[in-house]
Amino acid sequence: MQDIEITRPDDWHLHLRDGPSLQLTVNAAARVFRRVIVMPNLKPPVSTAADALAYHSRIMAAVNPALACAGFQPLMTLYLRDITEPAEITRAKAGGVVYGVKLYPAGATTNSDAGVTDITRVYPVLEEMQRIGMPLLIHGEVTDSHIDVFDREKVFIDRTMGPLLRDFPALKVVFEHITTADAAAFVAEGPATIAATITPHHLLYNRNHMLAGAVRPHFFCLPVLKRNTHQEALLAAATGGSPKFFLGTDSAPHSKHAKECAAGCAGIFNSDSAIESYAEVFDACGALERLEGFASFHGPDFYGLPRNQDRIRLRREAWEGPADAVMGSESVVPMRAGEQVAWRVVGGQQA
Ligand code: DOR
Ligand code: ZN
Repeated sequence: MQDIEITRPDDWHLHLRDGPSLQLTVNAAARVFRRVIVMPNLKPPVSTAADALAYHSRIMAAVNPALACAGFQPLMTLYLRDITEPAEITRAKAGGVVYGVKLYPAGATTNSDAGVTDITRVYPVLEEMQRIGMPLLIHGEVTDSHIDVFDREKVFIDRTMGPLLRDFPALKVVFEHITTADAAAFVAEGPATIAATITPHHLLYNRNHMLAGAVRPHFFCLPVLKRNTHQEALLAAATGGSPKFFLGTDSAPHSKHAKECAAGCAGIFNSDSAIESYAEVFDACGALERLEGFASFHGPDFYGLPRNQDRIRLRREAWEGPADAVMGSESVVPMRAGEQVAWRVVGGQQA
């Protein structure tokens, strides 16, 4: 048995959904994470300052103080559309709850149909974001049907990320949920204005977990799991101590029946075991002393926000991930269902 304490972490990429889903998603995340960057891919999308404010209120109304850490704070994002006006970004910043703008290439993933069809169409919006210091959060995959699904992140780097950084040298960009050695190298070698989030599932698993011997739909997410050499590059990036890489769970629940079917949805619910899974991965890499930087320092530093002051305690003590979670009237199969999780959260300490 071993205990470690780290500064309370934040989750820089999270899907909370809406309505009856919020009881589960909000409190599972708020159990550990003080701040969460809330993805805007609802139907209809959260695309105006007013939408973000209303969604923020619905999230706060779902917080259960018996389950959530004190001071839980959702950091809202806007869903960038071809039709978004630069003034909407200015308004969102002034409203005080929006901390980023999310770019989904149209058709890339769940509820992305209203996304951007050509990045040059939103250049005036990006100019304004650069001017006022609003970060751009990117789902970095091309959507062309003839590009192999395993190559979509790499092609996006070549076609879009490179030119974007050249055209907007002062814009803060988060390359979300990176999945390839190519993306890890691009971010590591890029300017200080680019950083990346890494999910627990892309650290724990590779595409064999999803496809060897049987199709396992609960491992299906986007960007899709890649081969093990990419997983190894992500492990090196996350545990290497670089401030450009930080925690973003991309916890994204879909009901069991929406995943276990002929056209299953992409997304993995992991909030109930996220920090525990990151601890397990860092431990396995012999890098436990770097967990705090990745989980609690690099994110707020990049976003220009203060680090949390209180701490959480983790213990190396195995437990079995629950087989399901209740989300409104639906059942969700969590990431670690039936697996042994090597670390658990045993307590916290107020500032
Ligand atoms: O696997 C994913 N699920 N990837 C995304 O980009 C979106 C997410 C969702 O909202 O379900
Ligand atoms: Zn996501």
